[in-house]
Amino acid sequence: MPSHIASLRGWHPALARAEIAALLPNAVVQRMSSRRLVRIDAELTGQEMKEAVLCSSGCQALLEHAVVWQKTESIDSLVERMAEYIDSHTRTGTVAVRSWKHDGKMEGVSARELVRKIGGLLSRKGYSINLDNPNHKIGMVLDAGAGIIACGWMLGTGNDSDGISARRATDRPFFKPVSLDPRLARLAVNLASGPIKKGATVDLMTGTGGFVLEASVSGRIAYGIDLDEEMIAGAQQNLDWAGNEGRGILLHGDATQLQDVLPRNAVGAISGFVLDPPYGRNSQGSLAPNELIRAVLNSSYNVSGPDSNFVLIVPIHPFGEHSDEELPLDAEIQLLHGKWATLQSCFEETGWRVVGQWVEHVHASLGRLILHAAIVPQD
Ligand SMILES: C[S@@+](CC[C@H](N)C(=O)[O-])C[C@H]1O[C@@H](n2cnc3c(N)ncnc32)[C@H](O)[C@@H]1O
Repeated sequence: MPSHIASLRGWHPALARAEIAALLPNAVVQRMSSRRLVRIDAELTGQEMKEAVLCSSGCQALLEHAVVWQKTESIDSLVERMAEYIDSHTRTGTVAVRSWKHDGKMEGVSARELVRKIGGLLSRKGYSINLDNPNHKIGMVLDAGAGIIACGWMLGTGNDSDGISARRATDRPFFKPVSLDPRLARLAVNLASGPIKKGATVDLMTGTGGFVLEASVSGRIAYGIDLDEEMIAGAQQNLDWAGNEGRGILLHGDATQLQDVLPRNAVGAISGFVLDPPYGRNSQGSLAPNELIRAVLNSSYNVSGPDSNFVLIVPIHPFGEHSDEELPLDAEIQLLHGKWATLQSCFEETGWRVVGQWVEHVHASLGRLILHAAIVPQD
């Protein structure tokens, strides 16, 4: 089976690994010795890989059938293997070579020299080099932490900045302090919804439209729901500003009563639910935080598709160091509001199974839990 390498951005590699696995559900995704490189084993079309990289928040590039060099080998052996690779993986059109680094400079290796050598190989094999606008690029990531170089035809930019954070929440016409960071919003949408064509996304409590905006600009059909009409009007302004093209649909209503809010044709066709509930008491003031989440989980279950996923983001007390890895499912977490055991029971009792959990450091007295659940299939 072919192996590809995904090169991840540095913001939260563990979440980025989960995101790329969700976007490529038929692939086996394995972490390499580097925290920012994953091996992807699957028979994938170029289109499937392109769609995954383009809509992802955490994947900076995918290197097709990549050659992997370890620091115990000589650099000449990498160049020789790249010569064979270029012969066996041909492309039509102009080309260029692009390199980037993880974890600083790799001792004893000049990226510039390697780019020159691989560029030389391409020229000798008859390719025209076009540095400004090539049809194809060979990407080369030098991961100093793990002592690995991965090299291959690339999809994606290789940039550490994702173009998503460039669309900062504060730049939108309608901003509130609750507005989510776009890169986290995009990642949560992808984790919950999977491949672009799988089905619609529901942003259950849309606020200023953080999730629905990211879902719709990445090409998904997405519904954003809120009880507060001011939020719906403001989220609409944000969608229009982002160039929504009709894929993001805002609905005024209650996320605990989805059957009454969603259009009929959406019921049973939802791939992912994303929830960023209000801190403390909900706007009606009638339900405690975990009880509101339970009611929303229950309502989501009733309109879900056969393999829907759910991503919840809730504030927690700081969780020590910024965690590089997924948390074990039996980790003890201190929620800012409500009891952890109660939140766990909300998922179990409404037909959802928690499949992954991560923390994000916000500041000295606040963290975020990102919790990923899958629907439990009915017999
Ligand atoms: C933390 S904010 C969401 C922020 C959002 N993620 C953003 O990027 O702006 C929570 C939102 O939930 C809404 N809300 C509270 N209870 C609700 C309910 N039962 N159904 C729908 N929306 C609700 C509030 O009006 C508020 O806008």
